[in-house]
Amino acid sequence: MKQGVKIVTIGGGSSYTPELVEGVIKRYDELPVRELWLIDIEAGKEKLEIVGSLAKRMIEKANLPIEVHLTLDRRSALKGADFVTTQFRVGLLDARAKDEKIPLSHGVLGQETNGPGGLFKGLRTIPVILEIVKDIKELCPDAWLINFTNPAGMVTEAVLRYTDHKKIVGLCNVPIGIEMGVAKLLEVDHSRIRIDFAGLNHMVYGLDIYLDGVSVKDKVINLLTNPENSSFVKNIEGQGWEPEFIRALNALPCPYHMYYYKKDEMLQKELKNFNEGTTRAEVVKKLEEELFELYKDPNLTIKPPQLEKRGGAYYSDAAVRLISSIYNDKRDIQPVNTINNGAIASIPYDSAVEVSCVITKEGPKPIINGDLPVAVRGLVQQIKSFERISAEAAVTGNYDTALLAMTINPLVPSDKVGKTILNEMLEAHKEHLPKFFPKVKA
Ligand code: G6P
Repeated sequence: MKQGVKIVTIGGGSSYTPELVEGVIKRYDELPVRELWLIDIEAGKEKLEIVGSLAKRMIEKANLPIEVHLTLDRRSALKGADFVTTQFRVGLLDARAKDEKIPLSHGVLGQETNGPGGLFKGLRTIPVILEIVKDIKELCPDAWLINFTNPAGMVTEAVLRYTDHKKIVGLCNVPIGIEMGVAKLLEVDHSRIRIDFAGLNHMVYGLDIYLDGVSVKDKVINLLTNPENSSFVKNIEGQGWEPEFIRALNALPCPYHMYYYKKDEMLQKELKNFNEGTTRAEVVKKLEEELFELYKDPNLTIKPPQLEKRGGAYYSDAAVRLISSIYNDKRDIQPVNTINNGAIASIPYDSAVEVSCVITKEGPKPIINGDLPVAVRGLVQQIKSFERISAEAAVTGNYDTALLAMTINPLVPSDKVGKTILNEMLEAHKEHLPKFFPKVKA
């Protein structure tokens, strides 16, 4: 048995990979990675070479004995993996741009993981992740699947519901971003803050907020009325909350809740961006060009600070912290997507939820129990229904199921509008939807 840990990253050509490499380097003493395999597809070959070369330079600079391998052959890489991380975007940013623009052209919110965009990100992604899980079951059945691929909650739900691979943890940087943001607001070190998270991915609430074990929820909630304080992530601009609302909510909303509790303002904002050609995918495309130009520089041996302009900043801390805690049976508390098993009473036992968990060698153990506050329970259940029907549509390729998912989403105003958007988006993404267009080569 070779010493050390083998990590395989699918979507290795992602601009976020230097985040992951930085995390591996930072935690090497507690997580002795022996091999890091970066996997991509033919279309991502050039990006893989650029990011892979930077990864090798970062590790060489750190003077660590980690082998970095780059390959397009996922199956050969998976053999003997201890952890498989997934961070891929089917259709790349062009697909994301369509997910944003097509709904907006019909006056409906277009966003990466919410509304029609979330449905189609799921329809493109779920068949691919299920194929990856089949390979894992065959080639590294004891490996942990650590998924960041969006929509992370829906993807985790699909793997739990449609495979028997239970060693999956869904991950997102929003909770860690919120904890870091609250620490900054209170001007204390991040390590002194802990938040009880409960809900779903991109639909998670802070039910209580602790500074050195003492609740500071009321103090933090009052600070969120200031727009400057109410986002915590770079991809969503804070709008500030009405004091009476946020105090009555009595929980810490995540940035994505602005799309639900500030529907009008956020839709107007996105429509303005759409009319000005500056939807988020267009902004990110420019950021990506800058980043890859930086990554190409043979003198660059660190993760460039520009990467922190992306919404997914710091996920490497979340990722490698999680892998290390599983590997070392640390039993520390982290917010992750895992099977509910009664943590949230009003969500099905076998569904994926995003909750604070004790992280052990046998996986996450939720510390949340009881139910969500009445005021937020309904929205969370509606989004969970949307996730489950979307996953069913992704697996079956059934048009009616896809229209059902579209229409029950709270950001879609009617079945008629939903049908128009669905038809346009199916056509726009057909090359990445083999379940809906079986004759199209997968
Ligand atoms: C976040 C979310 C990620 C999302 C990202 C988008 O904070 O946690 O799930 O993909 O932002 O950031 P981007 O820079 O791509 O708009």
